[in-house]
Amino acid sequence: MTEIKDFIRRLPKAELHLHLEGTILPSTLVELSARHDARPLTLAEAEALYRFTDFTGFLEAFKAVTGQLIGAEDYELAAWRMIEHLAAQGIVHAEVFVSAGVFYHWSGHDSAVFEPIFAGLERARLRGERELGISLYWIFDAVRHFTVAEAERVFLEAAELRLAHPSIIGIGLGGDERRCGSAPFAALYEQAARAGLRLTNHAGETTGPEAIREALAIGSERIGHALSASHDFYLLQDLKEREIPLELNLTSNVRTGVCPSYAAHPLRRYFDQGLLVTLNSDDPAFFGSDLANEYLLAHTEQGFTRDELRQLAANSIRASFLPELQKTEWLFRIDAMK
Ligand code: ADE
Ligand code: ZN
Repeated sequence: MTEIKDFIRRLPKAELHLHLEGTILPSTLVELSARHDARPLTLAEAEALYRFTDFTGFLEAFKAVTGQLIGAEDYELAAWRMIEHLAAQGIVHAEVFVSAGVFYHWSGHDSAVFEPIFAGLERARLRGERELGISLYWIFDAVRHFTVAEAERVFLEAAELRLAHPSIIGIGLGGDERRCGSAPFAALYEQAARAGLRLTNHAGETTGPEAIREALAIGSERIGHALSASHDFYLLQDLKEREIPLELNLTSNVRTGVCPSYAAHPLRRYFDQGLLVTLNSDDPAFFGSDLANEYLLAHTEQGFTRDELRQLAANSIRASFLPELQKTEWLFRIDAMK
């Protein structure tokens, strides 16, 4: 086991579906609370915030933790801790969701500005690049079950900040698919694409395959979760032919209860059918996992061999929004791995 763990750690990997707020550990939450609460959270209270029994409870917990991120220094601390942990796992590139949608929602007034917050994120990113050699892009994530106007604000902010910060690579939609699909965001996705932003989308996590079709119909380039595609032969064909990258999240799906077990997860079937699947950790601090552990689970729970793990790592580079030259370099390194 130590040998395969070592192989996984050394394998150059990209993480493509990771929420910044979902990487905040209870111990960091205690530190954040000490910065701005009159009566700071104890560790036990912080840990209690992370307890949930279903998907709705998870979203509530995520919102509560995000509410502890207030100033630029809070975001910088969270991002730096995240980046250190990414580098320790052998992750060479990450594309990280920032829930600007939750930030605006919490701040509660129209004049809230994200730019100073983003400066904190950029300080952490640049330090990671300099000190740890890791590259990172930001994806601004809106909450689909808030209003379309709120999502528009998030995407416009991404487009505007991108002019000075090309590290903002794209946009995404998270939240509760049972309350809102993708169609209402069609015009916003078109507008974002015209601004040069890449398009990701959570789809088919808690809803059926039609949600994935709807996400594709509005131009989504990558699909997060895509669990329910397993029920739809023609959709699987389409995803394969178009080489749509799927950002799969094993432990997340088991812990939020949308998938009954690791054995039941469609990762193995999608992989064997030749889909462009990638492994990701989604919200590792909430689910007690991380990307290296997800690779290990693919090995222990679904029998992925070393070569197949190598293929998953190569898929993560291919499916990233990195420039082609950098992709080629990483793919060469992965190929050469012993
Ligand atoms: N926000 C953070 N994690 C999420 C998930 N797994 N699904 C939807 N929205 C999210
Ligand atoms: Zn997610």
